[in-house]
This record gives sequence, C-alpha cells and structure tokens, in this order.
Amino acid sequence: MEPFELPAGELRLRPWQDDDGPAVWAALQDPAIRLWNGAGSTSPEDVAALLARRADWSAGGHASFAVTDAAGGALLGSISLHSIDPVQGDAEIGYWTVPADRGRGVAVRSVVAVCGWAFPALALDRIELLHAVGNPASGRVAARAGFTCEGRLRRSYRYGDGVKHDELLWSRLSDDPAPVAG
Ligand SMILES: CC(C)(COP(=O)(O)OP(=O)(O)OC[C@H]1O[C@@H](n2cnc3c(N)ncnc32)[C@H](O)[C@@H]1OP(=O)(O)O)[C@@H](O)C(=O)NCCC(=O)NCCS
Repeated sequence: MEPFELPAGELRLRPWQDDDGPAVWAALQDPAIRLWNGAGSTSPEDVAALLARRADWSAGGHASFAVTDAAGGALLGSISLHSIDPVQGDAEIGYWTVPADRGRGVAVRSVVAVCGWAFPALALDRIELLHAVGNPASGRVAARAGFTCEGRLRRSYRYGDGVKHDELLWSRLSDDPAPVAG
C-alpha cells in the first residue's frame, strides 16, 4: 500500500514526514497521550524511528496519518488504522489529538474519514476500537463515530502507567449505519 492524503473537510490527513518529529515529541509530553497511547517514545530519536515506521505502509499492516489543519497545516493529531488483516477483513483504529485542539471533533472526524475510506478500499468488514475503561473521552469518540460497544475486556492491556487496565471493545461493521454527524 502506498501512503496517500485523505481530505476530511477542514482536516487534512496526510502521511507522516520526517519534519513532524518536533511536533510529535511535543505532543507526547502530554500526560494523557503518554498514558493512553503508550510511553514507548522516550527521546526525539525514538520519535524519529516511530515516524519512519508510520510512514512506511509497504507491508500492508497499517495506514497511519498525521491529522493536520487543512488551511494552516498545523499538526492536530494522529490516527492509525493498524492490525489490518485482509484474510479476516478486519483492522483496529487508534488516535490522539493535541491538547490545544481537543473537544472540537478532530478525533471523531478523523475516525469517520478513515473508516469511510478503509471499508471499501481495503474490503474490510469490521474495524475494532479499544480504550481503557478509565478513558471515557475515547469512548465518546467511538460512539460518535458510529461504533457499537461490545463489552469489557478484563486487564487486557498494559498502558503507559505500566498497569494492565480493563478495556471496552467497540466495533463498526461495514454495513452499520454511518454516523449522523461526522
Ligand atoms: C480521546 C481524544 C483522542 C479525543 O480527541 P478529540 O479530538 O478531543 O475528540 P472529539 O472532539 O472528536 O470528541 C471528544 C468527545 O469526548 C468528550 N470528552 C472529552 N473529555 C471527556 C471526559 N473527560 N469524559 C468524557 N467525555 C469526554 C467530549 O465531550 C466529546 O464528546 P461529545 O462531542 O459527545 O461531547 C483526546 O482526548 C486525546 O488525545 N486523549 C489522550 C490520548 C487518548 O486517549 N487516545 C485514545 C486512546 S484509545
């Protein structure tokens, strides 16, 4: 799969670039992103390696985008469709938004845009979304992006605090109704 740009109204989802490093490093200083998206990148060099992996879609396992302001180009967030399994026709989606731009629909619109592309383009039937029970904001994103909560997984993932948290599992199927407002 070749990286490409996905327009989403006022947002532009584009492939990651080397020069995103400083903005991503700044975002990763946010305690909520470190907690819920993992604390794996502990230096600018780690971030550079992460961005190189996210910019390389060649193995077909993920499609990862920088979420930017279409007008000004500022980095607003990250979204990644990963664990793409063409045999099963499923994948998982993950995201973060920079603290200053939260609460204005950046994550919801990004999830809706990626799902809208991925279901037909990758012939997916199911996209999963998981978040810790202690992270209700991510649950609001899931609900508003048309996902259905299927249940609670017990101590299923070790987050950035080193603790295994219970998670809620959500999914959106290819024939689920599109969300009313993206
Ligand atoms: C979760 C996160 C991605 C949401 O990004 P965002 O761009 O602000 O999301 P949106 O503006 O599209 O939607 C936010 C929704 O969360 C709700 N919300 C925000 N903080 C909340 C909280 N503490 N408790 C409950 N809901 C909350 C908002 O009210 C909104 O829902 P609404 O429109 O129904 O009112 C962002 O808070 C973030 O990056 N958090 C840290 C990293 C993270 O949690 N990543 C996801 C890991 S699964």
